[in-house]
Amino acid sequence: MPAVLFRSGNDNPVAWREALTKRIPGLDLRVYPDIGNPEEIDFALVWKAPRGTFNGMTNLKAICSLGQGVDHIFDDPDLPDGPQIVRIVDPWMARAMAEWVLLQVLRFHRQGPAYEQAQKDRRWIKLDAEETSTRRIGIMGMGALGAEAARVISALGFDVAGWSRSRKDIPGVRSFAGTEEMDAFLGRTDILCCLLPLTPETTDLIDAGMLGKLPSGAFVVNSGRGAQLVEEDLLAALDSGHIAGAALDVFRVEPLPETHPFWTHPRVQVWPHVSAQTNADSAADQIAENIRRLRAGQDLLNTVGRGRGY
Ligand code: NAP
Ligand code: GLV
Repeated sequence: MPAVLFRSGNDNPVAWREALTKRIPGLDLRVYPDIGNPEEIDFALVWKAPRGTFNGMTNLKAICSLGQGVDHIFDDPDLPDGPQIVRIVDPWMARAMAEWVLLQVLRFHRQGPAYEQAQKDRRWIKLDAEETSTRRIGIMGMGALGAEAARVISALGFDVAGWSRSRKDIPGVRSFAGTEEMDAFLGRTDILCCLLPLTPETTDLIDAGMLGKLPSGAFVVNSGRGAQLVEEDLLAALDSGHIAGAALDVFRVEPLPETHPFWTHPRVQVWPHVSAQTNADSAADQIAENIRRLRAGQDLLNTVGRGRGY
């Protein structure tokens, strides 16, 4: 009887056991480190599993990310070649992410940081309010998360554009595609929101060169992955005044070290990687379905191409 491995320092194994055994009664779910004979594992459910986790799992056929991102799986130099890689694609998470990105867009649009400072200083100030239709939002990454964020923000009347590898057709959202259209995308972006997956192409993408192509006074919102942002370049752009503020949910090192300058920077808001957290209740259906499909020899849902990396 094959078994499922669960290994995550982030997700609650009790909630996952309950959610999965409700859908597959009798499921043999083995929570690391109590995995028994590794040769019995055919499906692994992981988040940031350390190098070597899959050693000895000679019958492993699928590795599923406990999140929408899979960079933590491809990061393992010992990743076995055979198993298919699958991920969660959960409308619940897309809605949560859209809420978070909208929250940041509205905070910057309505001059939240200036009013927050004024309150600290006990100053009663009134600043000009800009129209939503003239505030240009640019979303990098127009996949399951970015496309939903674009739809939600566009519905409020903002001028929204998306940037992705391939062209998109979302009503009311202008599509820019590929590196050749990136400069045009950046040049019309007042609030840049990153929802890209981490791959070799997107690592260090948001650097001084890219930030310099945004209009002066632009804002940066990152909830993709920390390694997409060159942190020193953002700090320099904030200090020069070219970038007016940033809201960051992901960092190169997580948890963000206590001494990191982002914690105390007056124009940076730090969030502890919570913009779209995995929810066992909403994601368990698709994972249970994939376990069933694997064992029935059927095609899996939400597969990730190893070549593409996302
Ligand atoms: P997805 O559905 O795979 O979409 C990825 C998007 O990025 C696609 O539109 C893709 O373009 C685009 N893209 C990838 N590489 C690109 C490149 N080199 N140049 C231009 N565009 C590129 O991914 P998703 O489900 O939306 O998730 C995106 C990422 O969000 C995850 O990988 C993860 O890092 C992050 N995330 C963060 C949190 C959080 O709590 N902070 C939660 C969940 C996910 P095409 O459409 O043309 O392929
Ligand atoms: C969270 O960061 C995810 O990838 O789901």
